[in-house]
Amino acid sequence: MSSEVDDDISNDSDVIIKGSDSNSDNFKESKITPWEVQGEINYDKLIETFGTKPITPDILQKVQKLVGDVHPLLKLNYFFSHRDFDWILNKYERNENFYLYTGRGPSGMVHMGHILPWLFTKYLQDKFNSKLLFQLTDDEKFLYNQDRTFQEIKSFTYENILDIIAIGFDAKRTKIIVDTKHIQYLYPLANEIAKRITFSTSKSVFGFTHSTNIGMIGFPPIQSAPCFLPSLIEGKPTPVLIPAAIDQDPYWRMTRDVADRMGYYKPAQIHSKFLPALDTSGKMSSSKPQNALFTTDDPETIDRKVSAAFTGGQPTVALQRELGGNALECPVYWYLRYFFDSEVQSEERLIKCEGGNLLCGECKSDLATESKSFMIKFKQRREKAKDMIQEFMYDGKPL
Ligand code: TRP
Repeated sequence: MSSEVDDDISNDSDVIIKGSDSNSDNFKESKITPWEVQGEINYDKLIETFGTKPITPDILQKVQKLVGDVHPLLKLNYFFSHRDFDWILNKYERNENFYLYTGRGPSGMVHMGHILPWLFTKYLQDKFNSKLLFQLTDDEKFLYNQDRTFQEIKSFTYENILDIIAIGFDAKRTKIIVDTKHIQYLYPLANEIAKRITFSTSKSVFGFTHSTNIGMIGFPPIQSAPCFLPSLIEGKPTPVLIPAAIDQDPYWRMTRDVADRMGYYKPAQIHSKFLPALDTSGKMSSSKPQNALFTTDDPETIDRKVSAAFTGGQPTVALQRELGGNALECPVYWYLRYFFDSEVQSEERLIKCEGGNLLCGECKSDLATESKSFMIKFKQRREKAKDMIQEFMYDGKPL
């Protein structure tokens, strides 16, 4: 198998580089690791530093040709970067199916920034008819968060599973893997991976230090394992595409580095940006609940958070009318654009705002109305999900 893999795999040589830190030249203002994202992020620089490729018009055209529909998050460049997505599309064109793999660290409740990539993953599943593995890294979140008990993580895991099912993934072709529950399916693969990675490599990829607990140091192969699990399930080398926010990239660099040596395809990735917080720039963080809209927020809470949101507007109505607003810097504008506005509506909103013909109150009121009605429906789906959990749990059987 390995010669076929060698010929077929795109051979951009993966450089293992450190998840950038605040001392590196490119990231004076920002910090990005799988566990922490801070500051303003320059996404073009990230492509350079992480050694990924931008999503190009060619790729959009190819998607259009293959499935007849380009998701707005691709068009809008919210998914802005990739590794081997072109290779995955070529495989698909030649009738070779790929698996999707994504995941969630259950460290809290789910907000809109989390579900955006999941909505995109559902589009990929629907259009490409893909099977999907969805991992919940309860172990990772227990190990990382000093002050969380396992019992707390376990209850977030349950709550998060309801959100995942509520997205509407195809029950027949989607399996959820909870690390501490399904470890027997991951452990043999994780061992093979772990044996091929030195401490020195993982230190430089993840920025581990001598004071990092050894659970964290040993964890990464558990997140890598689902990249290769589809090949075991299918009994042949199987391409995998990972839709995920760019902060997860260190895991995939490490996994790609061992894939060849293990006789598997390197997992492909399509990377998203972060949804800005409602009150400033930066990633929407569940540690600052007032800045994010959670799927479980009630209508009053949504009203309160949206009305307190930061906008790209001018300090006074008169100035807004005179100078126009700064829509492209406005989280309210982007929330509407990513979640609720059509392309045409969003263009009109932009023109009106920049021309001084739209006040922030109107956009906020649109966002609050749309979010409330979205959450009401989503909550109903979460309720229904309670009876579907068993169906979605991975059981070692083919999907
Ligand atoms: N580590 C991820 C997090 O903290 C969870 C995760 C596991 C994941 N496997 C994944 C995310 C695959 C994206 C793709 O959120």
